[in-house]
Amino acid sequence: MRLNEHPILNFQKRRGKKIKIYFEGQPLDAYEGETIAMALHAAGIRVLSYSGEKHRPRGLFCAIGKCSSCLVKVNGIPNVRSCITLVEDGMRIERQQGKEEIPKTVKPPQWKDAIKVEGDVVIIGGGPAGLMAAINAAKAGAKVVLIDENPMLGGQLVKQTHKFFGKREQFAGVRGVKIAEILIEQAEKNENIELYTETSAIGIFQENDRKLVVAIRKNKELVEFWGKAIVVATGAMEKMIPFENNDLPGIYGAGAIQTLMNTYGVKPADRVLIVGAGNVGLILAYQLLQAGVEVKAIIEAMPKVGGYFVHAAKVRRLGIPILTRHTILRAEGKEKVERAIVAQLDENWKPIPGTEKVFDVDVIALAVGLRPSIELLHQAGCQIAYIRELSGHVVRRDARMETTIKGIFVAGDAAGIEEATTAMLEGKIAGISAALYSGKSNISWLKEIEKTQKELTEFRSGPFGKHVLEGIKKVMVGEINE
Ligand SMILES: Cc1cc2nc3c(=O)[nH]c(=O)nc-3n(C[C@H](O)[C@H](O)[C@H](O)COP(=O)(O)OP(=O)(O)OC[C@H]3O[C@@H](n4cnc5c(N)ncnc54)[C@H](O)[C@@H]3O)c2cc1C
Ligand code: FES
Repeated sequence: MRLNEHPILNFQKRRGKKIKIYFEGQPLDAYEGETIAMALHAAGIRVLSYSGEKHRPRGLFCAIGKCSSCLVKVNGIPNVRSCITLVEDGMRIERQQGKEEIPKTVKPPQWKDAIKVEGDVVIIGGGPAGLMAAINAAKAGAKVVLIDENPMLGGQLVKQTHKFFGKREQFAGVRGVKIAEILIEQAEKNENIELYTETSAIGIFQENDRKLVVAIRKNKELVEFWGKAIVVATGAMEKMIPFENNDLPGIYGAGAIQTLMNTYGVKPADRVLIVGAGNVGLILAYQLLQAGVEVKAIIEAMPKVGGYFVHAAKVRRLGIPILTRHTILRAEGKEKVERAIVAQLDENWKPIPGTEKVFDVDVIALAVGLRPSIELLHQAGCQIAYIRELSGHVVRRDARMETTIKGIFVAGDAAGIEEATTAMLEGKIAGISAALYSGKSNISWLKEIEKTQKELTEFRSGPFGKHVLEGIKKVMVGEINE
């Protein structure tokens, strides 16, 4: 079902021309500008493929191209990520059955025919970190190429309908969706920035003093992006937790639910159980109510709520129970989620027999944290460390965001999980540093880096920042025990 009314967002304005797509032969309405997964969800279709060995149903999980649980066949071609591929009039979509071969009649593109694009700085990822890196590298004098695999720039910001905290110059009081619009407009207007959406970076290589990012555009074109410096701002991936049937369609990451309802105006469910009472889980509960979805409860394994008190108080006032010291035991349903079974935990984190509760829901939202997306940095050979305070494996880097490979910089959630304001500040530092490395900027820009470093320190001076600062200390080049 599509949402037509929303207190903040105007979906009617955002939707493109009405077109027809065909799902397993059945005609469906879709709108230009929406992805296959969103159009199918709007038509009530949750099962997108079946696993190879056990033929288990699979559906969306991340909705941003990172988990491959949404693969479908499009016009006969398998392995298409339906969550980031746009619909086209007359498109034929089928559920994928395990591993499927590319039809013999299809001739895959060859690397020798790849399109070549040159810049001084190549930026991977167009979220707040990547956009700020692009805008600032270009201001500092570099020719910038920015690529993003989603059809829309803005990263996670495009689905955040609430207002930001912090200082005025850091967009305090402005909604995330609006911040994304402002940054995208600045990048689009800058003649020194070339933008490529629907373009997935799949590898980073080096040839003498030039760097190469190889990528696939619109699932069919091979592109080589050449530059002197690279900024990796690939964001994060939502974490999964182990419980019985955790692969049933209808178990979604919190971000996927925000993508459905806030980006594409598709009602994600009728009744939801949220797992995780951090800020993401609490904000999600509120946004679900705004979209007319019933939130049955939020469960949290810790003894107290992890998110801000003001968010928790608002959610409770709206009648949503928050059950601390509870976990999910299993999901149940035929082909898709129909109910969730939860239980209370004892002081040893073991479920207490007899405390089971059943929630009749059609979606279970996992808001249990994120981990940095470092795959490309890992492949490029950057040194990696496991830093608990930064939520997983991260790359070692210095105060100017340069990794252990000269000329490769990192910013935002890919450098360690924080939030959008720090991602923007880190992006600015990485962008200017990359412009300096490329030789297209001058040292007067060092002052701007120092100023931004100070702003970052100030922003992290609160109680949540203390934890992150400890992690950053461990990850800094020269400051870790090897
Ligand atoms: C559900 C959810 C709710 C949140 N709520 C808040 C909030 O209320 N307030 C707040 O401050 N922060 C919030 N955050 C955190 C905040 O959104 C992130 O910290 C911030 O967006 C990080 O910015 P980024 O640019 O590093 O990454 P992202 O915004 O994730 O952007 C990364 C970009 O990289 C692209 N990309 C990734 N891999 C590739 C590749 N191989 N090739 C090409 N492109 C690629 C992606 O498509 C994406 O556009 C939330 C995060 C989530 C997931
Ligand atoms: S890749 Fe599409 S849902 Fe994760």
